[in-house]
Amino acid sequence: MARSRSRKRLAFLFFLTILVGLTLYLIHTFEPKLQEHFLMGMEPSKVAAGQKTFEMVITIVKVILWMIFAITIVRALATIIFGTIFRLRRGYEAPALVRNIFSIVAYLTSFVIVFKSFYPEVGLGALFTTSAVLGAIIGLALQDTLGNFFAGISLHSDKPFQVGDVVTVGQRTGVVESITWRAVKVRTFSNNIVLASHTSVSREAIDVFPRDNLNARIVFFNTLYTDSPAKTIHIVREAVREADNVSPKITPVVRIRNFGDSSLDWEVKYWLTDYAKYNDTDALVRQRIWYAFRRARINFAFPTRTLHIERQPKTDEAQVDGSGFIERLSAVDIFAPLSNEQMAQLAAASVSHIFAPGETVIRAGDEGSSMFVVHNGRVSVQISDNGRPRMVATLHEGDFFGEMALFTGEPRTANVVALEETEVLEIDHQAMKQLFDTNPDLVDSLSHIIAERRLGLTAKTENAAESEEESEGIISAIKRFFGFD
Ligand code: CMP
Repeated sequence: MARSRSRKRLAFLFFLTILVGLTLYLIHTFEPKLQEHFLMGMEPSKVAAGQKTFEMVITIVKVILWMIFAITIVRALATIIFGTIFRLRRGYEAPALVRNIFSIVAYLTSFVIVFKSFYPEVGLGALFTTSAVLGAIIGLALQDTLGNFFAGISLHSDKPFQVGDVVTVGQRTGVVESITWRAVKVRTFSNNIVLASHTSVSREAIDVFPRDNLNARIVFFNTLYTDSPAKTIHIVREAVREADNVSPKITPVVRIRNFGDSSLDWEVKYWLTDYAKYNDTDALVRQRIWYAFRRARINFAFPTRTLHIERQPKTDEAQVDGSGFIERLSAVDIFAPLSNEQMAQLAAASVSHIFAPGETVIRAGDEGSSMFVVHNGRVSVQISDNGRPRMVATLHEGDFFGEMALFTGEPRTANVVALEETEVLEIDHQAMKQLFDTNPDLVDSLSHIIAERRLGLTAKTENAAESEEESEGIISAIKRFFGFD
């Protein structure tokens, strides 16, 4: 569009130059005839005065025409140099300020040349330099304009923003449409124009969101306290990264901002391909979160008041009803020999804990008086190998850990870390002792597992005789520890 505009302007200027040039040529050619015509029929006494008047008028007309000629030439040159050539070389039009400075200097020069060639006797220099009053008047009149002009020059040399960038000046945000010699023209998102003078722009703090930069936005939302943070992070990150205009170059960041009165307060930070469309993209991101929450059954929070009525469970089973503890523990092979009643007792004695991805459930070297069954999720068993963590096993739902320290009284042998959001059931020393009282065979099966796991820790090669020996040792250690000897 800019190209066709400058082509039209060039055609118009070309036409005007031809017209003015032709007029000047005609005046020059027919000047004696015109004069003759003008003086014809004049009284001889008035001929001299008439001649003078004619010369004066014709000179003024010529000066005006030459001025117009000079203006069209300067404009055409400016269009060619700053429109066409600059765009071809750099890909965009030259800043209006540079163009204006060029035009002003060229106009003044041509004005002086034209004026001097018609009125050589008039001293232009004296006109500008000796008139103090004129100087003061011009100075006062141009005070603001000159201030803007120089502020504009410093803006141009600093280049804090360019056409197409999004800026916030004062209370207003919009896209920079042009930078003239007096002001910055910003089109706001309500599609109106704000003209911020250079002096005001250089005085205020401005936020610039460059067009060729990945600028970020933050959208806030909240969830109920009962909704899992790990799940929320995953759901929101996936929902946002697929929205239009969200840059695929950086993965959105989802994080908890605050523990609010009625909600977990969250924010999602995402990066935009085209920052100028941030209002639409923010809205789309909120919409995507709504739908994703609907599908994942995550709830937005609203001001609520929760009344907790504490009631003692009537039976041990009631405490675990609905939680699936019994089902989970029944699937653990070492508890297979337990009767239904014993299983219910064990479930009632189990306490559930939830861990975020990356959280440590057990730390190597700590004292330990309980074991754990993975109810939901996954954990990794890690030991330190020359200062570096080495993973020895991954345990899934229905697997157990922490039995070594519980049954032998020794410190924890490894770190156990949640690989994802993980719920574990903790069974303490007391509950296990009760089980051993009624199921002495349990000691046997546990000792085998512990011996096997110990081999895994030391990375020894499997040796049946050695393992058997170790099991025997462990059985007596367990018995001693639980006071069965
Ligand atoms: P404990 O020593 O109490 O604490 C760390 C736990 O990691 C340990 O009990 C075992 O339950 C578990 N563990 C240690 N080594 C292994 C292994 N080789 N395979 C699976 N689990 C292990």
